[in-house]
Amino acid sequence: MPPLPARRRVAVVGTGAIVSGSHLPALRDHSDRAELVAAVDVDPGRLDAFRELAGEAVAGHTSMDAMLDAVRPDLVLIGTPPSLHREQTVAALKAGAWVLCEKPLTLSLAEYDEIAAAEEASGAYAAVVFQHRYGSGAVHARELIASGELGAPRVAHCQTTWHRDAAYYSVPWRGKWATEGGGPTMGHGIHQYDLLLHLLGPWTEIRAMAARLVHDTESEDVSTALVRFENGALATVVNSVLSPDEVSRIRIDCADATVELTHLYGHRNEDWVYTPAPHVGSERAAAWPTPAADVPSSHTAQLGALLDAYDNGVRPPTSGPEARATLEFAAALYKAAFTGNPVHAGEIAPGDPFYPAMHGDHPHWAPKERA
Ligand SMILES: NC(=O)c1ccc[n+]([C@@H]2O[C@H](COP(=O)([O-])OP(=O)(O)OC[C@H]3O[C@@H](n4cnc5c(N)ncnc54)[C@H](O)[C@@H]3O)[C@@H](O)[C@H]2O)c1
Repeated sequence: MPPLPARRRVAVVGTGAIVSGSHLPALRDHSDRAELVAAVDVDPGRLDAFRELAGEAVAGHTSMDAMLDAVRPDLVLIGTPPSLHREQTVAALKAGAWVLCEKPLTLSLAEYDEIAAAEEASGAYAAVVFQHRYGSGAVHARELIASGELGAPRVAHCQTTWHRDAAYYSVPWRGKWATEGGGPTMGHGIHQYDLLLHLLGPWTEIRAMAARLVHDTESEDVSTALVRFENGALATVVNSVLSPDEVSRIRIDCADATVELTHLYGHRNEDWVYTPAPHVGSERAAAWPTPAADVPSSHTAQLGALLDAYDNGVRPPTSGPEARATLEFAAALYKAAFTGNPVHAGEIAPGDPFYPAMHGDHPHWAPKERA
């Protein structure tokens, strides 16, 4: 029998809700391949609570740099507020560690390109958490669409209609460009449109609107967009935190079938429905539903893919240019909404006001102290 691959030594940075609730279970699910050796949080109370929850000999640090020096981990999982992601990802890469960082990986395309440069210099890779790509239903739908089995994609809807109250926005880092990077476009809908882009491929043009209708935030609390894809399909995208009946939905009408995903924070096979066009025979349509093995979309599924890439020494999925495309979509949506003009793929480059910041210094949307 070939020897089992070594267990990767893993550190977590930020021991709040997402690391305790999603990254820790994922590490447990992969305990044969990954060993949690250290945790970092600037809040000693949270750090202690996490170490107690982790229930193993996990070294505790209140400084990430000190942890990197002392532990030299293979992989760092980052779950801190968004404004820290760039700096912490670059620090981990410089220390030779691979990174899996929570979304959004950075606050701007300029910051993303700094991470790309740090990857280049270190030879390690930084991936961003987009766990919904990894469920078996998404993998299967992507294969069916890419193979042409469902016919040409024509019309799509991508909906993140969630509800967040004033208490949610009382947390100091939320709703501000400098710390959250944006509103539901960056923080909530990014999961759904990342999956839409993963299923439909490159987009070419976007037109959009955004508004602050309810919350006392710098960034938007709702945005909507119209998108044209390279394959000719047209889509609508809605990102809202104002919707009492919460749902996450993707619907793609192809020539021979509609494929529809309806869920909230994670999907399973049963959340995917295929409806054949009238001309499609029942025998052909019977082959479409997702095969029985059910992999829920989850941090566990994504961490598994990352560990596979680590073992094979190849770039992990949802990193590099592929993950940049999703951030570029966010920047383009903001630019289209704030300027009122259509935005084309590739146009936001250094020198464009929407390259260093999602608000693009637009007078109505710039941070309060700059407006
Ligand atoms: N993938 C998903 O579905 C999903 C869901 C929720 C949140 N998130 C993302 O996860 C990230 C964290 O969100 P959360 O809800 O867990 O926040 P949280 O506030 O519960 O946790 C953040 C933790 O980071 C710690 N921290 C702050 N500054 C630090 C520093 N300099 N060094 C180390 N630790 C530091 C805080 O003390 C806190 O414990 C955000 O980027 C958010 O968008 C992702």
